[in-house]
Amino acid sequence: MKVSASPELTQFAEDVLRGLSSSPKQLSSRYFYDDEGSRLFMEIMKLPEYYLTRAELKVFTEQADAIRGAFAGENNAFDLIELGAGDGTKTAALIENFLANGIDLTYSPIDISQEANDALEAKFRERCPGLDIRPLTGDYFKILGDLKTTGERRKVLMFLGSNIGNFQKEKALDFFRHLRAVMNANDRLFIGFDMQKDPRTIVAAYDDAQGITAAFNLNLLTRINRELGGNFDLENFSHYAQYRPVECAARSFLISREKQTVHIAALDRSFEFDQWEPIFMEISQKYTRAMIEDLSSNSGFKIETEFFDEENFYVDSLWRPV
Ligand code: AVJ
Repeated sequence: MKVSASPELTQFAEDVLRGLSSSPKQLSSRYFYDDEGSRLFMEIMKLPEYYLTRAELKVFTEQADAIRGAFAGENNAFDLIELGAGDGTKTAALIENFLANGIDLTYSPIDISQEANDALEAKFRERCPGLDIRPLTGDYFKILGDLKTTGERRKVLMFLGSNIGNFQKEKALDFFRHLRAVMNANDRLFIGFDMQKDPRTIVAAYDDAQGITAAFNLNLLTRINRELGGNFDLENFSHYAQYRPVECAARSFLISREKQTVHIAALDRSFEFDQWEPIFMEISQKYTRAMIEDLSSNSGFKIETEFFDEENFYVDSLWRPV
């Protein structure tokens, strides 16, 4: 079947059309984060099973001095630029250490949402009063491209929270190569990776007992109902999470519990679901050291320093351009 999206469809509508027309059906986790989705993700970060956020926060609080040393180089000065800062809690732990130790610092969270940036700015003004914060609103690569030409000061780019895990391998490589292209030799890239570990620990993180992760996934169907005039019945879908240890990949699916038809008004189309047919929702890639090594060397970087938590659950890896 040929799917041609009409030009007046939004990107969201187009992606939903393409995803539900493909086999297997899929939806992009990029669209999880509407207001309710962002709220649910904050709940996820507090879950006992979701070890990632706590592990990274521990790295930051316990190794802040070493991280500061690695970022600051000789000049004790740098511009910290964060891609997708979220609620900023983890970053604030680092910044408090940097300010307390006299680093000459600016902090620029980059986000496409002006509202997200405004909220973050308000939060930092309260928590870190002395901080020179300069939020940048727009596309990552456009903004970073513009910044490349300005000044000699080191830029430290941060992409935390294992957000990279939502990209398939080739997409991740592309992303790092793009970043490499907008960095100068003295700049650094700081990335959070979730490590390979006991598969049971990983599955539990994506299939929590309280069902918050299930609600987080199902919320995308609610979003389609609201924004695109869909008629998904959430009762007819259930969340399923799996981990494949050979690929180090956690994946989540919504499973159609029965044979059903869903209509989406904005697409002027209906979609048939077989009983037990899955919609692939999200990949959360886990990493070995060899995989991280590979990603860095294949995108023009060398690993400079690695900061692991005590359990080796998680690593924040500092890369320099080569
Ligand atoms: C925000 C992409 C890091 O994959 O672990 C949490 C999103 N999905 N629970 C992750 C998520 C389900 C999260 N990241």
